[in-house]
Amino acid sequence: MTETSFYDAVGGEETFRRLVHRFYEGVAEDPTLRPLYPESDLTGAEDRLRGFLIQYWGGPNTYSQQRGHPRLRMRHMPFVIGEPERDAWLRHMRDAVDSLDLPDELETRLWDYLVYAAHSLVNSPA
Ligand code: HEM
Repeated sequence: MTETSFYDAVGGEETFRRLVHRFYEGVAEDPTLRPLYPESDLTGAEDRLRGFLIQYWGGPNTYSQQRGHPRLRMRHMPFVIGEPERDAWLRHMRDAVDSLDLPDELETRLWDYLVYAAHSLVNSPA
């Protein structure tokens, strides 16, 4: 019996493409978050987050081939991430997750991870 990865169960690359694209559509309009990201455009940031999530959930490991070990806490240190930034990030992610219309069990697994990860990246006290 072969085990299906979470990546395959939710629909593979296409699902992560939709998720992350929708998320960055929200970020693009967000006065708290937008200034943290590269001024020119969000395409590179979109590629990196999508690649990371694909790899994390059992898809191809292209992210680490291009970027090395994720070291997410370290990579977020240049940005001030307090509760407002975390909550804004999660608000756009919630909207993006909802847009996928996944079965409840898969949606809960994805969402719980994102909440946990976002909390773990706060690096600035209230
Ligand atoms: C990169 C902000 C949470 C994954 C970035 C960047 C910013 C940022 C400004 C640089 C953009 C770029 O790549 O050019 C935030 C804020 C968060 C947050 C404000 C709120 C808590 C998360 C979470 C994850 C994540 C929860 C993972 C589940 C990543 C990844 C990169 C990144 C993979 C690219 C790292 C690299 O390879 O350089 N984030 N982030 N972020 N973020 Fe976040």
